[in-house]
Amino acid sequence: MKILNNIETTKQEVEIIKKNNQTIALVPTMGYLHEGHKSLIKEAKKIGDIVVISIFVNPLQFGENEDLDKYPKDFERDKNIAFELGVDYIFYPEEEEMYNNFKTFVEVRDLSQKMCGKTRPIHFTGVATVVLKLFNIIKPDYAVFGMKDAQQVRIIEKMVYDLNIDVEIIRGEIIRESDGLAYSSRNKYLSQNERKDAIALKEGLNYGKSLIQNGEKDVEKIKKSIIDFILEKFSIKSIDYISIVNFETLEEEDFVYTEVLLAGAIYIGTTRLIDNLLIKI
Ligand code: PAF
Repeated sequence: MKILNNIETTKQEVEIIKKNNQTIALVPTMGYLHEGHKSLIKEAKKIGDIVVISIFVNPLQFGENEDLDKYPKDFERDKNIAFELGVDYIFYPEEEEMYNNFKTFVEVRDLSQKMCGKTRPIHFTGVATVVLKLFNIIKPDYAVFGMKDAQQVRIIEKMVYDLNIDVEIIRGEIIRESDGLAYSSRNKYLSQNERKDAIALKEGLNYGKSLIQNGEKDVEKIKKSIIDFILEKFSIKSIDYISIVNFETLEEEDFVYTEVLLAGAIYIGTTRLIDNLLIKI
């Protein structure tokens, strides 16, 4: 396994891989790898000849009062995990390598302003910008993104479609702990007490799903029931949002018909957790 810190060296390695007619599967990450990332890497191993993971805590996608400075990092641990999983390359650049006198941003309009984008207005522009840079440097044939960040997946798919980027986006399933909490690097911020309430969102979304399965179609009613359920059963003080949207457009419609995404974000103390369920009706 090779560690690459430099963009030019990475491009040279990529050129050799392409000359050998090998395909590249990329798993972009911000490090602090967990079971969710491991599953994406395993998926990448199945589809690409060469697996590259990127580890870069991308400052562009953090708002001013967000957790950029305390975002968990452990490169030695990540390196061992990647090695054990048979990763071929880790692209691990410094911030100055990625953003030297940087002035260009990629904005996927509409999709980026909804849901998480309301509370995190610059987040998805930061994500789209860094992902396009990664695509240009690593030139992957496949890129695997976890569905825990479902809105991110749709935004990247839209960017790839709109800008005619030659990469196939693979949606990786959400991996959960035994009580249902989706793996996330941010779970590390939770105290033992907070951890108990962290499943509130997942339980609320499951409750919403059961209402839909029992025939409820009214989006406003389902959303209100999910919020009431969470506030009654858990000591949650702040729900950022609950949305029920068409997964293609991320638009909220009045009634649920075909494929809908139930998604939300809640605060457990100061930690913001997101989760979602994709339901086909
Ligand atoms: O999902 C993430 O970890 C990040 O948003 C990504 C895709 C690596 C871009 O920084």
